[in-house]
Amino acid sequence: MNNIEKRWWKEAVVYQIYPRSFNDSNGDGIGDLKGIIQKIPYLKELGVNVVWLSPIYQSPNDDNGYDISDYRQIMTEFGTMEDFNQLLTLCHQAGIKLVMDLVVNHTSDEHACFIESRKSKDNPYRDYYIWKDPVNGKEPNNWGSCFGGSTWEFDEQTGQYYLHFFSKKQPDLNWENEKVRASVYNMMKWWLDKGVDGFRMDVISLISKDPEYKDGEPGVTGYSSFNVCANGPRVHEFLQEMRQEVLSKYDLLTVGECSGVTLEEAKKYARSDEKELNMVFQFEHVSLDADDDNKWGLKPFDLMKLKEIMTKWQNGLEGKAWNSLFWCNHDQPRMVSRWGNDKEYREASAKMLATCLHMMQGTPYVYQGEELGMTNMPFHDLSEFRDLDSINAYREMVEEKKIMTSEEMLTALRKKSRDNSRTPMQWDDSENAGFTTGTPWIKVNPNYHQINAAEQLQRPDSVFHYYQKLIQLRKQYEVIVYGKYELLDAENPDIYTYSRTLGNEKLLVVCNFTDKEISYQIPEEYRNGECLISNYVEQNSGVLRPYEAFVLHINIL
Ligand code: NOJ
Repeated sequence: MNNIEKRWWKEAVVYQIYPRSFNDSNGDGIGDLKGIIQKIPYLKELGVNVVWLSPIYQSPNDDNGYDISDYRQIMTEFGTMEDFNQLLTLCHQAGIKLVMDLVVNHTSDEHACFIESRKSKDNPYRDYYIWKDPVNGKEPNNWGSCFGGSTWEFDEQTGQYYLHFFSKKQPDLNWENEKVRASVYNMMKWWLDKGVDGFRMDVISLISKDPEYKDGEPGVTGYSSFNVCANGPRVHEFLQEMRQEVLSKYDLLTVGECSGVTLEEAKKYARSDEKELNMVFQFEHVSLDADDDNKWGLKPFDLMKLKEIMTKWQNGLEGKAWNSLFWCNHDQPRMVSRWGNDKEYREASAKMLATCLHMMQGTPYVYQGEELGMTNMPFHDLSEFRDLDSINAYREMVEEKKIMTSEEMLTALRKKSRDNSRTPMQWDDSENAGFTTGTPWIKVNPNYHQINAAEQLQRPDSVFHYYQKLIQLRKQYEVIVYGKYELLDAENPDIYTYSRTLGNEKLLVVCNFTDKEISYQIPEEYRNGECLISNYVEQNSGVLRPYEAFVLHINIL
């Protein structure tokens, strides 16, 4: 038996909702809380036991809610606090826990504290944010913002710069100030006392800044400064304090979005003695097809690299910390278009990718629409994008720096833009995919006539039902949750095969990542195994069909 403590959040499957694009109940073209309430039966049918809501707080929406102006109010477009209370109650009645997004590396520049802070150098809130004098009449250092340009914005009124790792409407909070930390903790308690079940913590690896503010390696985009700033000197101290002050008093799911996290750092954030967070999101696997210096540069998918990275994390955290498992979220393009095949093998490859991920050790996250095999959007031109990161990047790369041509950049955006996963959820084949009766805030993917929930719910072999089965298997077989992972056939460039072992039980997971037939022999010990799930109806021997995946279960004794 592996030496892993059992926890409900290790056994859970989380469904991420991006509320703006999920379901619109009032016809204003923007998803809302009442819209989510209407879909609780759908979530229940899928079988997920936790929902993570991307931010629903009051916000001017420079970055779709990741810029919060009031942490204790609901965004006007999304509804009211009463709607929220009802959503929480109904989720709990349906056996679904609700996890909130906690965005506390930065606030909106329209937050009352920042409005005060920028008023004068001696304002009591000045120190809530990070203000620096110009150096030689310029920015204090060369750090680049994740959304392009410098991380420093000059403020005429007081002649100083403030720090913003993201847009200039997202000033970074000064975590060195204990009053800041105390107000964050109070706000967290306020939500937890309402009954929410945990937090996904936005870019939590960035909250502690190195007081030296040294220059980073200059790069093509701001992302190169990320590695300088992540996992700062006091980050673990802050999280341990947060744990003591707040988290330890409740039974929660906590997951830290840890940009720039290494395996060694993850072992501290998600340590199994539970002094900090339950788990982290790491991004090594979803970065393997990006250029190191330019996140918009495209590199081909490399299965060998994927196996190496996933295996490193599976083995590296075993017994020491806990993995989260994801292919997609609101910042990533659709996985079936990225590493699968969104044409003739869309369903087979969506199911294969799901098998590969859901059979690993860790807590799986399903991003809305992934369970339908939703695809990237065929964007035509820049006017169809809504995401400020994508729009800024186009301006910077094409118009200012002239590093990419317009066509090259549009090709990159079609592949990588976050808007690919922010198009409305495809509920049925009525107008606007049943998402809204009004005009959607971002275009609906025209393939909703073929790809939609209503069609898949009535078809037993749909991607939806495949996810439903994967989720149900996880509830049924402890080996899927707690079993030890081992990579098999490491040198095979086309197939991802691994085993899981717990006590007497073993699983063999086999995934063909190509659109070709690949010869494959099932290892002797699994030949009489029970097939738990497969994306092809009939079993075949000696050859794997395009994107074929299956899982065999055996008892060793
Ligand atoms: C990470 C979030 O996932 C992303 O959507 C957001 O733009 C940045 N953090 C800034 O909050």
